[in-house]
Amino acid sequence: MRVGILTGGGDCPGLNAVIRAIVRRGIPEYGYEFLGFRDGWRGPLEAIARPLDIPAVRGLLPRGGTILGSSRTNPFAIDDGVGRIKKNLQDLGVNALVAIGGEDTLGVATELHAAGVNVVGVPKTIDNDLSGTDYTFGFDTAVNIATEAIDRLHTTAESHHRTLIVEVMGRHAGWIALHSGMAGGANAILIPEVRFDIDQVCEWVQNRFRLDYAPIIVVSEGAMPKDGEEVLVTGEKDAFGHVRLGGVGEWLGREIEARTGKEARTTVLGHVQRGGTPTARDRWLATRFGLHAIDAVAAGEWGRMTALRGTDIVTVPLGEATQQLKLVDPALYAEAAVFFG
Ligand code: F6P
Repeated sequence: MRVGILTGGGDCPGLNAVIRAIVRRGIPEYGYEFLGFRDGWRGPLEAIARPLDIPAVRGLLPRGGTILGSSRTNPFAIDDGVGRIKKNLQDLGVNALVAIGGEDTLGVATELHAAGVNVVGVPKTIDNDLSGTDYTFGFDTAVNIATEAIDRLHTTAESHHRTLIVEVMGRHAGWIALHSGMAGGANAILIPEVRFDIDQVCEWVQNRFRLDYAPIIVVSEGAMPKDGEEVLVTGEKDAFGHVRLGGVGEWLGREIEARTGKEARTTVLGHVQRGGTPTARDRWLATRFGLHAIDAVAAGEWGRMTALRGTDIVTVPLGEATQQLKLVDPALYAEAAVFFG
């Protein structure tokens, strides 16, 4: 059997560990051949692939990004995209695909499965907002990077008696903000799931200064103030059709300065959170996902994806990941709020 592997959507630390595990188990255990498709769905769409053998996956565990490249290409948005993919897979002798990706990539995988393609999915996103799995790899790395940044910002905030705002990734869900904010001792954590009240945030800031501390605010890029308040967050599409967020951190800085009369500075962590070497935990989860994905291929579990449930890796229908995003539970947010102000 010849199996294709692709990585789609935003890159994520741990992608290479998944590829390595699939190949390292698939060749000796099942005698499969592997083709690595280039740049997500663009690879099968344009038949751009290269063989992956054991030497090709050597040294990948600590390597960030993806050796296969990634893109947000959606074959359903392209004329006869599905037909082209099916034909290319047939011409290349590929009988099965492992698609490693987030909401969009797995959404395409779900539809391709319905169109008769043998697909198994592996969930990935630093945002940890995919349903069906307790955690996704990449998230732990992002949280650790953000936490280290918060630790560093504490000391400079104190030296200058300033408020420091850290904008982290998370357009729909505040998981990175919640975990890094709690780990880093933030005085406020603002997430997309709960609209924030700027007056309340300023009260927390003043309170912190009264106690002779410098406030640290962690804000998800997708967080929004309560209705009626004006914020410069845009949701415009860029030239590649991708909705760009940004601005809430800067907006907060300006509002806090204007309302409290005290200096504020904003750090936007951006893609630093996605780059570089994965943590040990992410390598471990990604490796286990890879092993179970190739077992799922061997078992013919088409249309399913690997998922972490407690400490077990199971497979669940692909649709579970994409039907509904996994948002921060209000009870968890209430725990974090004990430390606000
Ligand atoms: O989905 C992961 C994610 O990192 C989001 O948190 C973020 O909004 C988005 O990707 C950024 O994507 P891009 O790399 O296209 O700017």
